[in-house]
Amino acid sequence: MTERPKLRSSEWFGKQDRDGFVHRSWMKNQGLPQHLFDGRPVIGICNTWSELTPCNAHFRKIAEHVKRGVYEMGGFPLEFPVMSLGETLMRPTTMLFRNLVSMDVEESIRANPMDGVILLVGCDKTTPALLMGAASCDLPTLAISGGPMLNGRFRDEQIGSGTHVWKFGEMVRAGEMSLGDFMDAEACMSRSAGHCMVMGTASTMASMVESLGMGLPANAAIPAVDSRRYVLAHMAGRRIVEMVKEDLRMSKILTREAFENAIRVNGAIGGSTNAVVHLLALAGRMGIDVSLEDWDRLGCDVPCLVNLMPSGKYLMEDFFYAGGLPAVIRALGDRIHKDAMTVNGRTMGQNTEDAPNWNPDVIFPADAPFKDQGGIAVLRGNLCPNGAILKPSAASPHLMNHRGRAVVFESIEDFHHRIDDEDLDVDETCVLVLKGCGPRGYPGFPEVGNMPLPPKVLRKGITDMVRISDARMSGTAYGTVVLHTAPESAVGGPLALVQNGDMIALDVAGRTLTLDVPEEELARRKAAWVAPEPRHDRGYARLYIDHVMQADTGADLDFLVGKSGAEVARESH
Ligand code: FES
Ligand code: MG
Repeated sequence: MTERPKLRSSEWFGKQDRDGFVHRSWMKNQGLPQHLFDGRPVIGICNTWSELTPCNAHFRKIAEHVKRGVYEMGGFPLEFPVMSLGETLMRPTTMLFRNLVSMDVEESIRANPMDGVILLVGCDKTTPALLMGAASCDLPTLAISGGPMLNGRFRDEQIGSGTHVWKFGEMVRAGEMSLGDFMDAEACMSRSAGHCMVMGTASTMASMVESLGMGLPANAAIPAVDSRRYVLAHMAGRRIVEMVKEDLRMSKILTREAFENAIRVNGAIGGSTNAVVHLLALAGRMGIDVSLEDWDRLGCDVPCLVNLMPSGKYLMEDFFYAGGLPAVIRALGDRIHKDAMTVNGRTMGQNTEDAPNWNPDVIFPADAPFKDQGGIAVLRGNLCPNGAILKPSAASPHLMNHRGRAVVFESIEDFHHRIDDEDLDVDETCVLVLKGCGPRGYPGFPEVGNMPLPPKVLRKGITDMVRISDARMSGTAYGTVVLHTAPESAVGGPLALVQNGDMIALDVAGRTLTLDVPEEELARRKAAWVAPEPRHDRGYARLYIDHVMQADTGADLDFLVGKSGAEVARESH
């Protein structure tokens, strides 16, 4: 046997004493032969498989293909579960648990004998949660996304995950679609394994994995059920063993340049607003100073190249056939830091220099883009002193500069209770304002910012109004929606002070959001403001309420910021 450098796992499996016996003996009950304990790289496969997370329900099969690759290269794969986050079922919102899962991941990695880690990620929050937890340990790490579902198809129409749920929901409310047809559409939308196949949060985060350099080229777009997804998993298994030998840690990949690349790519794909909060949190774990300003500065001149729902017409399967993310990164040219290192040991420039674009109606060229402005607009003003965001490519041009009367809802329950009321004093020029949906207030920062419009407005054929909240919105949603208002209302941000009838001015080009109420009046309201009682007095939700940071810094828990490596000095027995 050739001499190997001593690996972290040998602190467990390499011991000749009683502890070594304990570490090996129980593992052998799984049928693992002695030679696997000879000092070869141990690769943890962090799996978010769950039948309650349908988008990740095929992950045990992906893990099997990873193992083939790991074994081929002389590594020792060990799969382990962490808490999974299924967007469609979990209440009150998966975002409440993103940070909890990141703790699960971090502690599982650090406490166990592994030298490198494969992260199996898919449904929205599983991607940032696993990246964040792994970042705080900083081992060689490679992420594999589970891949999008096949295109949805309802009768003669391509339909997109989420995006068409909003659309159909509004059609039913407006009396344009029967309940029977609505039900029929369910099975047509989700017809294969995989995550949402629009450019929603899952596809965006899979693209972030690739553009950060944390995934292999083509990671973002290969459909979940395409055999090439399993080949990618196999190759990732091979590669992680080499990464351990090269000591290619996360901190060598997640540099400031990597984050800048990801922010630019988010603009080019018309990516989800949720990427903002997730990348801010991930940068916080790495100790890299990325701010909301970076999103505006780097994103503002990035054209949207990708014609995918919710901003455009195609779906992820089409994106894959057109060339996927490598073609987009290549098209961005000098906007990309080409020398940024990636997990395959090559630079971003090397990975994408020959990437073909097979369909310019899906991936537009940079000099004749799909939409001129792809990035995230960061708004400032007396309504959002620490910022708020809006996605111009999903908004209506005629509302980008708008002044309207506020119609205020104090909570999401208040909204649901009153929005269908025909006597509600509202028309399409009004600005819908929703409070109490920030990280701390809800708690958990839910995706309710794209509030449905009042039926009497919908009946006029109006499909968009300016909406403002401290919530997030689903990456599958669209509209002129101001999100992530900071500070949030529950901590006394100015949003808490808005009253019915106040005038609000949104100017996206000027990047301002202004509450047209005199300073003295706002000061008077602030003095009379009473903080809401926290909704939880125990458990994780209480920990979260006490420690969650605001949206503009990524909504991580304050004590999780930073990284502490994977060293554990003490034995367990
Ligand atoms: Fe899982 Fe959309 S619900 S990715
Ligand atoms: Mg979503």
